[in-house]
Amino acid sequence: MKVCVVGSGGREHALAHVLARTAEVIVTPGNPGIPFSTNQPVKEIEADLFVIGPEQPLVEGLADELRKQGKLVFGPNADGAKLEGSKSWMKEILVESGVPTARHGVFTEKEAAFDFLQNLSDLYVIKTDGLAAGKGVLVTSDLAEARQAVSEYLSGKAFGTAGKRIVIEEGLTGPEISLLAVCDGQTAVPLAPAQDFKRLKDQDEGPNTGGMGAYSPVPFVEENLVERIMDIAVIPTLETLKRKGIDYRGVLYCGLMITPDGPKVLEYNARFGDPETQVVLPRLETDLAELLLGAASGSLNSNPVFSNDAAVAVVCASESYPENSRTGDFIDGLSQVQEMKGINIFFSGVRKTNDGFATDGGRVLTITGIGPTLEKARNLTYEAVSQISWPGMQKREDIASNSDLYKDK
Ligand code: AMP
Ligand code: GLY
Repeated sequence: MKVCVVGSGGREHALAHVLARTAEVIVTPGNPGIPFSTNQPVKEIEADLFVIGPEQPLVEGLADELRKQGKLVFGPNADGAKLEGSKSWMKEILVESGVPTARHGVFTEKEAAFDFLQNLSDLYVIKTDGLAAGKGVLVTSDLAEARQAVSEYLSGKAFGTAGKRIVIEEGLTGPEISLLAVCDGQTAVPLAPAQDFKRLKDQDEGPNTGGMGAYSPVPFVEENLVERIMDIAVIPTLETLKRKGIDYRGVLYCGLMITPDGPKVLEYNARFGDPETQVVLPRLETDLAELLLGAASGSLNSNPVFSNDAAVAVVCASESYPENSRTGDFIDGLSQVQEMKGINIFFSGVRKTNDGFATDGGRVLTITGIGPTLEKARNLTYEAVSQISWPGMQKREDIASNSDLYKDK
């Protein structure tokens, strides 16, 4: 089977790496760090299956176009990808499906938004309606800061048109998890849960980013919690989409908070998570190409099975990410790390130089370590990360380091 992966980041590198266990793989446009990368435009590529990684092309209708050409595609059409492209529509679907989620309001006018804020207490959450690469969310306990964000979002100053319509939510508390479900339009199967670290700095300080690290499995998520999330969120949402005539074939990424009142959905994404993919897929024991082909053809017939090994990923980002990113710094230490057993380097924002790679984006690479326990995987990952450097490199030191994770070990 020949599989074409669309995208150019660490997620697509991990997809390609795991698909290549059983399939011939090509990645477009990829990047100089991803083997199998090609400049050939996706519409000119012949393959048995197309797997679309990022949200932007999904929201813009790439899956629709490929399907019109008769291709088999893993990734929803634009109608389904709207779950990610419009947070206000996603909230409508959640409410219509009876899925537990934070109380919210949708606003384009400042005064009405200020009134809604006034009626919330403790924790205020402001989100752009449109896509903002994971950066368009502010969570604050400071009402003045929340009001200022509302003004900046609605005026277009903060996020351009993506922020001219906003969702305001009550703040929830509790640990967060990401559960990715593979859907074939009719039904869905869960992948192993992961936890993602969205804030830039240790102890969840600093701005929201696309994700600075992840680990899987998540010890506090038992099998029955996964089943519960499928029952109260994923399956009812698929039913609602079906009722609306939306044939959702792809990943339904469920971002949840495990609150004192039970799991609540914070967001849906229409694709694999980055960097969740870099910890979930390396643990997969069954055939990924077969799983995605089944989903793409509307006939899921295999259940993914995961190893008992743990995976921990740390993202290395360039200076001043997420505001902007300095590029062109030479990356030191890659060759030693490439030799390390149990370590994978997944490349995102890199360019090739005469003697190696230089930075070429915000998130530059993800290093994933695999080990028999989370603690061993974590130690291995950080041993590898400590050997990588460039001027201004940013990374978190506390991925998978919460001592609660190791209580029973
Ligand atoms: P989202 O892109 O909607 O997942 O939001 C990004 C991050 O903001 C989430 O991973 C949470 O850490 C945080 N967040 C989003 N919504 C809420 C909420 N209602 N309460 C508390 N934190 C939230
Ligand atoms: N890691 C968060 C995301 O992929 O949206």
